[in-house]
Amino acid sequence: MLWRKKEKSIVAKRLPDHIGIIMDGNGRWAKKRGLPRSAGHKAGASNFRKITKYCSKIGIKYLTVYAFSTENWSRPEEEINYLMRLFEQYLKEALSDFEQENIKVLFLGDKTVFSDNLQKLIDEVEKSSQKNTGMVLNIAMNYGGRQEITEAIKKIAVELESNKLKIKNINEKLVSEYLYTAGQPDPDLIIRPSGELRLSNFLLWQGAYSELVFFNVLWPDFSERDLNRALNQYVSRNRRFGGI
Ligand code: FPP
Repeated sequence: MLWRKKEKSIVAKRLPDHIGIIMDGNGRWAKKRGLPRSAGHKAGASNFRKITKYCSKIGIKYLTVYAFSTENWSRPEEEINYLMRLFEQYLKEALSDFEQENIKVLFLGDKTVFSDNLQKLIDEVEKSSQKNTGMVLNIAMNYGGRQEITEAIKKIAVELESNKLKIKNINEKLVSEYLYTAGQPDPDLIIRPSGELRLSNFLLWQGAYSELVFFNVLWPDFSERDLNRALNQYVSRNRRFGGI
């Protein structure tokens, strides 16, 4: 943990509570090696497991990873089917990791579209890890920031219609409570590997004041050292939240 030694005093004060990661570049990683895209996703899943453990080890309180967006359904059926199988396989395998690492897992997104089997696994993981008191791992699957905000508006409208809520009581704090991340702090840092410079519908509301770090490394190659580099960038920034 090079950065910890070098930056101990700053890091002790400024380690982000919540990190978001857009796990991008699996396809390009595979293409570069002449492999099918599925091989990239497999390598991406394995890296996800490694980076999750690392974040838990260094004391990150919340980690949100973007695993499948509401837009990813437009990919070829074969790739979608592979990804769904990978999620199932990963969740089965990772149950022991969550237990060992004391990680509490939540899924962000609309789960109702997944197969019965995958929905059952998601429930099982959420339930069995609910009591865990360590890092909270949010896995965004069939997630989109706009969809999340739209769903929140619908829920608020229902409460208004049934007079459970008054317009004058709607404020930013209340809106946050209708999002999938209700009760959690906003991400301090959002990391996107792969060289793309955009948020792609990830945590649109929650990321309003997140520090963004972009890396020219494809997700399966994104290492613990790269994460340390991102943390070092984060600790050196001056967060003003609109102030001076
Ligand atoms: C983006 O890379 C990645 C995805 C759409 C899938 C992310 C999934 C994983 C990392 C698998 C692990 C996740 C879990 C929860 C097991 P891309 O395919 O868009 O890459 P490209 O831009 O290079 O084509």
